[in-house]
Amino acid sequence: MSTYILAIDQGTTSSRAIIFNEKGLPLWQAQQEFKQYYPDDGWVEHDPEEIWVTTLQVCQQVMQKGKLRSTDIAAIGITNQRETTVVWDRETGKPIYNAIVWQDRRTASYCEKLKQAGKEVLINQKTGLLIDPYFSASKLNWLLENVPDARENAEAGKLLFGTIDTFLLWRLTGGKSHKTDATNASRTQLFNIHTQQWDEELLKLHNVPVALMPEVMDCSAEFGITERTLFGGEIPILSMAGDQQAALVGQACFKPGMVKSTYGTGCFVIMNTGDQVIQSENRLLTTIGYRLNGQVSYAIEGSIFIAGAAMQWLRDGLRLIPHANVTEALAQVAKKTHGVYMVPAFTGLGAPYWDPHARGAILGLTRDTGVAEIVAAALQSVCYQTKDLMNAMAADGVAPTTLRVDGGMVVNNWMVQFLANILGVTVERPQVTETTALGVAYLAGLHKGIYQSIEEIADCWHSEQRFEVSMEQTQREKLYLGWQEAVERVKSKK
Ligand code: G3P
Repeated sequence: MSTYILAIDQGTTSSRAIIFNEKGLPLWQAQQEFKQYYPDDGWVEHDPEEIWVTTLQVCQQVMQKGKLRSTDIAAIGITNQRETTVVWDRETGKPIYNAIVWQDRRTASYCEKLKQAGKEVLINQKTGLLIDPYFSASKLNWLLENVPDARENAEAGKLLFGTIDTFLLWRLTGGKSHKTDATNASRTQLFNIHTQQWDEELLKLHNVPVALMPEVMDCSAEFGITERTLFGGEIPILSMAGDQQAALVGQACFKPGMVKSTYGTGCFVIMNTGDQVIQSENRLLTTIGYRLNGQVSYAIEGSIFIAGAAMQWLRDGLRLIPHANVTEALAQVAKKTHGVYMVPAFTGLGAPYWDPHARGAILGLTRDTGVAEIVAAALQSVCYQTKDLMNAMAADGVAPTTLRVDGGMVVNNWMVQFLANILGVTVERPQVTETTALGVAYLAGLHKGIYQSIEEIADCWHSEQRFEVSMEQTQREKLYLGWQEAVERVKSKK
């Protein structure tokens, strides 16, 4: 029996495909960036066709690299940028509008109205989420209200809704499968995390016909079979999870209290809370960590909107650096006491502030501030934001003592060491940092019988490096106070 798993990781800035073996080792990979569209202040869109084409191409490329045929692949797993919303025509498969990306803030005033109408408690109790443009519901409402004929066609059952996982599944199966998994569903703000069903009251509140909604599955399940022509034969799709939850699995955080933090476009800290639903009093989210055999493992999550995206901005927006891989060397030569703070609130502030109107700033500039100091401040901003989240977790009574990190940015040793120092906790980097893709590879392997249990998966996790704390408490407090003051300066005036 073949034991290769093809993991699709459809992220915010690129589509990737990785082939793993049964030991969880990545053998071949392919990646393609795609275009970001910013049609208005705070608006962020993707072209769903570009998402589809780049995804298909990286899958085909990775199979070519390994000289593999469809029969060599045991299963496909899909992981994806969450919340990003697509609506398409059930007959033609054509999207009715661009995908509205999770970072998009266009629905801020709609969300404000919901808050004023006193809906926050209801929404929070049912979904574990807060009212913010981040989640799919307000974006879906916007599409139905603003795209010509959308409302009418939705009512007539002609349209389908999906987050990116669902859209890709639909395309991969030639329009045969309209499904999502519980983790992605839990980010829509239309899914009741207690009953595990689309919630009628919330659908009504956001004015969404239930006919648009996909079927919600476990993370390891029969999602569908690829259309023959795509890969020269059929391949079963056996897992699906939102990228941050997939990383929780890839980091083998299976026990309550275990925490991971992923540094991709944004940064997402997730703690497994087992069968306990912890309602945060510090503006963190309650979400579904994973669902296996109908059994839900809940999680508490802090979401930061800009992490790696700040590096991208330094590269493409300011053209200060040629590539993200120069940031480590630059940060090392930055003045130790540079006093510069960057608050990358380009699309507002996420947890624990939830301020969609805040905008970014660089503060504390002096005549001798150079590129190195700005780069260091950008890297540090990601660490300070992680501390904001860890503090909120601690205030909720769940203080983590170690943190497992992953994602593109953690190859930067300077950043990870600063993270350990500013958090005051040990940070562990695993041997395989592609944990998002690895997570769905594990989940697909679980369904295929390559792994018998999550315990067997946990045994595959190995630390590559531990970063111990090497900063005095007084220094840590001083630096963090400077960050808190900088955040105060960018918050919107309410
Ligand atoms: O919630 C948004 C998140 O899923 C995006 O992940 O990896 O594209 O930053 P990423």
